[in-house]
Amino acid sequence: MSAKVAVIYYSSTGNVHQLAKAIAEGAEKAGAEVRLRRVPELAPDAAIDANPAWREHVEAVKDVVEVATLDDLEWANAYAFGSPTRYGNIAAQLKQFIDTTGGLWSKGILSDKPATGFTSAHNRHGGNESTTLALYNTFHHWGSLIVAPGYTDPVVYGAGGNPYGTAHFGSDAVSDETLVAARYQGERLATITARLQAGAR
Ligand SMILES: Cc1cc2nc3c(=O)[nH]c(=O)nc-3n(C[C@H](O)[C@H](O)[C@H](O)COP(=O)(O)O)c2cc1C
Repeated sequence: MSAKVAVIYYSSTGNVHQLAKAIAEGAEKAGAEVRLRRVPELAPDAAIDANPAWREHVEAVKDVVEVATLDDLEWANAYAFGSPTRYGNIAAQLKQFIDTTGGLWSKGILSDKPATGFTSAHNRHGGNESTTLALYNTFHHWGSLIVAPGYTDPVVYGAGGNPYGTAHFGSDAVSDETLVAARYQGERLATITARLQAGAR
């Protein structure tokens, strides 16, 4: 059985969306079936409209990227989750989705699956690492097999040398180097998942 990767993310202004697409591309390159899914937006229209970049992104993805469901978690045998940094933590929108997974968790459906995380922040030291590690708290509770990039490929250094998960920072567009690292992270997740699947036969 090949890898079936659910790339599930929240993004308000598109940075994490760019990373999610790159992770998905990398997983597909490694032969995985991939579902790229965004979690539902929870913010009121007034908040979204106050930030033109946020409104633009909401409109850009609404008919393009499907909304994540619990079926995606049941279907997948590997997870890549992404969120912007929110005060050093994951966004409420992603947390809300995670907090609907109790039924799957209690049946053991979330366990024993490779999982990885990615994020984006405004500042170089604004909390990318704490956000990724906060996400990994959930993966520990699920009994996931955390597949961090580590320093397993030079592209990790090219993207700033974050071994926990690919991360963008700044107000510019996501760099090519960071997208390369995200593709590598997706490829690594899919490759390791396929190896585990082959070993389980
Ligand atoms: C409520 C809120 C909290 C944020 N907290 C942080 C933070 O702690 N550190 C930081 O560097 N950036 C912070 N940011 C900025 C976002 O993490 C950053 O713009 C990110 O790249 C957005 O990703 P997106 O384009 O996928 O939405 C915050 C933004 C918001 C709206």
